[in-house]
Amino acid sequence: MDKIKVSDKTFRTYIPYEEFSKDIDRVAAQLNKDFENAPEPPVLLCTLNGAIMFCSELMMRCNFPMELASIKVSSYAGTHSTGVVEVKQALTCDVAGKVVIIVEDIVDTGYTMQLMKQFLEEKGAKESRICTLFYKPESFKFKDSIKLDYVAREIQNQFIVGFGLDYNELGRNIKDIYILDEE
Ligand code: IMP
Ligand code: MG
Repeated sequence: MDKIKVSDKTFRTYIPYEEFSKDIDRVAAQLNKDFENAPEPPVLLCTLNGAIMFCSELMMRCNFPMELASIKVSSYAGTHSTGVVEVKQALTCDVAGKVVIIVEDIVDTGYTMQLMKQFLEEKGAKESRICTLFYKPESFKFKDSIKLDYVAREIQNQFIVGFGLDYNELGRNIKDIYILDEE
């Protein structure tokens, strides 16, 4: 089995790009269906830095008119959620009256998405939907209150890196997904 070191931790192969790429195809097909006749172009909101790869792959597969915006939020330190989510860099476009598709790399506890939805509501968005590449159902705390509209792939409750996801800012440029090999 393929092992790699990212900073001080060892990770092993988990999901190759070729596999989760098919999940991205499926989610993009859902978005194409849902937005093909949309009265106004939605805003695709990339949550930096983690969703950058997923967002670009989604855009290549989506064929409806859309705007692109980004925002930077952060909640993780090392391999665990701090539970305190911060907006680190402002929204790059006006979302008032618009439908916003939040593009996220992974939904874990759900605190980040809770903050984002609240933030977008305060900014006057007409509606916000969540589109995530990965989802850890075992640690999600908002099953009764937050709908995850588009989920490419559910994964076990373990820390992963690659394809935009980092361990202390490293590992984002790895094409496949690797999982923590210790603890
Ligand atoms: P949440 O607020 O707990 O749902 O965490 C969401 C954010 O934490 C994601 O946007 C990621 O940036 C980060 N995160 C959660 N799980 C992982 C992981 O397994 N690897 C890397 N980052 C993660
Ligand atoms: Mg993220």
